[in-house]
Amino acid sequence: MSDKVVYAALLGFGTVGTGVYKVLKNQEKEMTAKVGCQVIIKKILVRNIEKASSKLEDASLFTTQWTDIINDPDIQIVIELMGGISPAKEYILDALKAGKNVVTANKDLIAVHGHELLETAHANKVDFLFEAAVAGGIPIIRPLKQCLAGNHMTEVMGIINGTTNFILTKMSQEGMEFKDALDLATELGYAEADPTADIEGLDAGRKVAILASVAFNSRVVFDDVYTEGIAKITSKDIRYAREMGCDIKLLGVARNTEDGIEAYVCPMLIPSSHPLASVNDSYNAVFVHGDAVEDAMFFGRGAGELPTASAVVGDIFDIVRNIQAGCCGRIGCTCFKEIPVKKMEDTHNSYFIRLKVEDRCGVLAEMTAIFAKYQVSVAQIIQKDTKIEGCAEVVVITEQVREGDFRTAMDEIRNRESVRKVSSIIRVYGK
Ligand code: NAP
Ligand code: HSE
Repeated sequence: MSDKVVYAALLGFGTVGTGVYKVLKNQEKEMTAKVGCQVIIKKILVRNIEKASSKLEDASLFTTQWTDIINDPDIQIVIELMGGISPAKEYILDALKAGKNVVTANKDLIAVHGHELLETAHANKVDFLFEAAVAGGIPIIRPLKQCLAGNHMTEVMGIINGTTNFILTKMSQEGMEFKDALDLATELGYAEADPTADIEGLDAGRKVAILASVAFNSRVVFDDVYTEGIAKITSKDIRYAREMGCDIKLLGVARNTEDGIEAYVCPMLIPSSHPLASVNDSYNAVFVHGDAVEDAMFFGRGAGELPTASAVVGDIFDIVRNIQAGCCGRIGCTCFKEIPVKKMEDTHNSYFIRLKVEDRCGVLAEMTAIFAKYQVSVAQIIQKDTKIEGCAEVVVITEQVREGDFRTAMDEIRNRESVRKVSSIIRVYGK
């Protein structure tokens, strides 16, 4: 083994932190041959040393004091795996300003403060890498910044939340209702104790903000991303979608269009023949389109101890190579454009609508007249067999229409006496 060593510190020793420690240990024998030196974790910041000691024999590595890390000149890499905004942001800024390179998996932080963190890294000529922040173990940030840099990317979209994909898979394959599938996800450890960020599409929304910024070279923040979750999807919606040759997936979509960037997360019907329709359980997949590469898809584990650690360790090794070559900070912020982000009302989509209407002559004509008034063109209209209390269930699929116009039409339709209930409105994925 060579004597060359790079010292690093871990902030947080939870799921991903312990994973990173394990992956580095597993790489110990090959590391010097691979990246030219050994990476040694010199300190691990935790809140409770007694609790952390149950996970690691060598308790001497643990500290509860940030000053033990920031003031240690030997530590060249800080690996932030605590999550949340504060104190993660302050610690990362301190580290960058002290000339230390930083790796993080913290999407919450980057989706809001990425610009400031990247600018600070640039000013201090250090690396700030975050491959694990989007789609866990799947390489996507580095491919977009490096391998695909010769493209003008026009679309990045995909399944970027494992918990919701697991739930929708169970609803689709086993006919479960949302609540039962969520309970199963919790029981199996996929869903977090508070699953709100996953279920409501917020976790995916943060990832869309990061993906769009990197893909389109223009800053998109979490607040720019429209988010809608999966709690209202029923097994009936999924069954009807299937009858129409589609699956329902929670998609994160970012598009660079002529009049601005579209960035949103919502459940969508997607043709069963689309490669994303067969991405099931807790798997993630990201689909990109560029003017040179055309279509490319990245598939794998979007979360979990070792898959996420795999991405973090990839970043650590990159930094180690840069340290030895004297070129840290080589690839920093790539947002050199200022493209406006469109409001959701100004995007164009097709819609699946499931509604209960009075079962009498002329009701469908009333509805289509309202659609026509707002330039909503109907692609398919199907009356289902179900007839309950004088009502019929109708499913409508529209052509592509401006969302604002569609919403106005639906407000008017909702107010018609003949329309008893608008049960579901789900967007249909299409280019
Ligand atoms: P986790 O299991 O909750 O671990 C976080 C650890 O950080 C905990 O051990 C916690 O200590 C510690 N911590 C929190 N605040 C601290 C502070 N102020 N000082 C010292 N230690 C502190 O979380 P995780 O799942 O490993 O996630 C870590 C990061 O990776 C997050 O940003 C997350 O979004 C991201 N990420 C996670 C996954 C995944 O699959 N889990 C995938 C992609 C990205 P206590 O034990 O005392 O609370
Ligand atoms: N909670 C996320 C998911 C993993 O279910 O995909 C962390 O990004």
